[in-house]
Amino acid sequence: MQPLGRLLVIGLGLIGGSVALGLRRRGFATRVVGYDRNAAELEEGLRLGVIDEAVTDLHGAVCAADLVVMAVPVKVMETLMADIAPALSSQTILTDVGSAKGNVVAAAERVFGEVPPNFVPGHPIAGSEKSGVVAANGDLYRRHKVILTPLAQTDRHALKQVTLMWEALEAEVHHMEVHRHDEVLAATSHLPHLLAFSLVDTLANDHENRDIFRYAAGGFRDFTRIAASDPMMWHDIFLANRDATLKVLDEFTAGVATLRSAIERGDGQALLGVFTRAKSAREHFSRILSGTAYSLPMNNTNVKFRALPGGRVNGQIRVPGDKSISHRSIMLGALAEGVTEVEGFLEGEDSLATLQAFRDMGVVIEGPYQGKVTIHGVGMRGLRKPPGPLYVGNSGTAMRLFAGLLAGQAFDSVLTGDESLSKRPMERVAAPLRAMGAQVETGAGGCPPIRITGGAKLAGIDYDMPVASAQVKSCVLLAGLYSDGVTRVTEPAPTRDHTERMLCGFGYPVQREGASASLAGGGRLTATRIDVPADISSATFFMVAAAITPGSDILLQHVGINPTRVGVVNILRAMGADLALENEREVGGEPVADIRVRYAPLKGIEIPEAQVPLAIDEFPALFIAAACAEGRTVLTGAEELRVKESDRIQAMVDGLQALGVDIEGTPDGAVIQGGPIAGGRVNSLGDHRIAMAFAIASLRADEAIEIDDCANVATSFPNFVELARRVGIRINIEE
Ligand code: S3P
Repeated sequence: MQPLGRLLVIGLGLIGGSVALGLRRRGFATRVVGYDRNAAELEEGLRLGVIDEAVTDLHGAVCAADLVVMAVPVKVMETLMADIAPALSSQTILTDVGSAKGNVVAAAERVFGEVPPNFVPGHPIAGSEKSGVVAANGDLYRRHKVILTPLAQTDRHALKQVTLMWEALEAEVHHMEVHRHDEVLAATSHLPHLLAFSLVDTLANDHENRDIFRYAAGGFRDFTRIAASDPMMWHDIFLANRDATLKVLDEFTAGVATLRSAIERGDGQALLGVFTRAKSAREHFSRILSGTAYSLPMNNTNVKFRALPGGRVNGQIRVPGDKSISHRSIMLGALAEGVTEVEGFLEGEDSLATLQAFRDMGVVIEGPYQGKVTIHGVGMRGLRKPPGPLYVGNSGTAMRLFAGLLAGQAFDSVLTGDESLSKRPMERVAAPLRAMGAQVETGAGGCPPIRITGGAKLAGIDYDMPVASAQVKSCVLLAGLYSDGVTRVTEPAPTRDHTERMLCGFGYPVQREGASASLAGGGRLTATRIDVPADISSATFFMVAAAITPGSDILLQHVGINPTRVGVVNILRAMGADLALENEREVGGEPVADIRVRYAPLKGIEIPEAQVPLAIDEFPALFIAAACAEGRTVLTGAEELRVKESDRIQAMVDGLQALGVDIEGTPDGAVIQGGPIAGGRVNSLGDHRIAMAFAIASLRADEAIEIDDCANVATSFPNFVELARRVGIRINIEE
């Protein structure tokens, strides 16, 4: 990059000094010039090597400069601009570093008539409680955000130069509207400073409280560190950003008043509600969307797996908790009376989204901590209207089950999800809910968002499901809890029955006869303890890994073997796998076993259609088993795979073909010819199970397999790579 000519920094405080020093060290300009009204500061800047040259003739310096950075307090900005205006040419680029932008832009309008095109308002989000040029730090802006607030008339070249300047300082440049900038900063920076100043001042004024300073420990120090910041600068900021600060201060005051009254009333529940929500929001704060609910946006960084060829699989592991059961434990625990304790909860993004959504509806939930969650149930009618749309990320289960449950509430609600979920069919739940009297709307093409108008009077129905779907069945049964009379659902083939089992566990009677499940509305749920078994769908990747790799022997502990989930066991056995269920037992209404798999050669089979719904999530891994089997495997009756987190038939066909496997897709399945697997590159399409399936394929591949778009593995199996490595699968993560 060609260095810029002369850069002039006006105001050599911490912020301006750090800009000058950082740019000087990095050779961004041929000459870094400094000006400061305070001659001592200026001299110190020169002595410390912050600037190449100190100037006292401001007009002359502005005339000669290519880029001018105004790093003076915001309230001085207008006077400064008026002062330098006669010396500014239309070629000179002007920028500032003020913490409030509306006020600086208004000052520029007053001085220049309109904001000049070569003025780019900016604000680096970095600082320190230290001040003065002695505190200048050339790396102050490294990996920090800088917000530029260009206007319609801002010149593109000027914007580009200012962007290059911050990028040279290794900052991350963002653009924002002026008004939005001031609102955001009022909340994230100005308010906390105000509170810190106020708290320290309040305590320091109270003589009785002087001891507090003597005994002040971590909490006080952490909270009040910023009260040592430059008073004059902050005095300016609050006067400059008056309206936005007042608005957020009022919101904060209301929040404190709520806490005050909770303490006065001895309302521990209200306190715990605020604290648990805040703790979780703080833990995830860098990922929180600017939405109104405590939404938990999913991880969308581009994670790639590189799975190295060969190896074998040995050891004993417990994979994380069952996703379906984890979702349901939160839902029923929230609606129960009393406190439900959950163990083995899946701390994956899908089930965490469900947990978060209930917090948004006012339920106090402690944890998760090492798989333990404590839910303070609010009863069937205790949910509160969430402050915004409920965001359920990648989770079809959350969205469809929520739809049933929310249809029975008095308040309106909106359900949204990530890009993949936003393409999945939701009319399959909206239609039966409407038949029950609910007011439900789906978005374009019957996809999310789902909008539910509360207060509808629901009546039980007798519903014959057109698709074998546990999510639809569960949705209708959950709406049935809020309906008059009996709700009966009949399924075309058996699907997972965790909802029915768990309702019984919470003391809610569910009748089951043949293919039907029914319940009468208007009952109550009573809190209970739930031990979530390990997820057979996650265990599947290791079952298949051991089944296809000579020399393997693995024990998967405490896996749920609900008869509606064991399709993978039946299919692998039919293919000749050496698979044993050991130590079978029942835990909290769900059968559990340790599953041992040793390598044995597999053969291709025609997969019985009756097994398909019982193994619906296991096909990505089973396709890998089929590719490693001798002969042909034929899958039919599995068109549902096309509407999962991705079109799983297409994703597996494309991926396996890219690895040289002979496979052909059909509308409802695939025909796979076993044979060698070459290495290569595949795309998981952001589908967790596709990513994990191709990772285990590497055990039998000739070369490495590179898998794109794997971040969503965290939705169901956050420690997949760690466990895979532990048992001998060599996967590297590349971000
Ligand atoms: C699930 C049901 C299945 C399954 C999903 C979880 C559930 O979906 O694919 O991963 O927890 O009820 P369908 O009901 O759409 O088949």
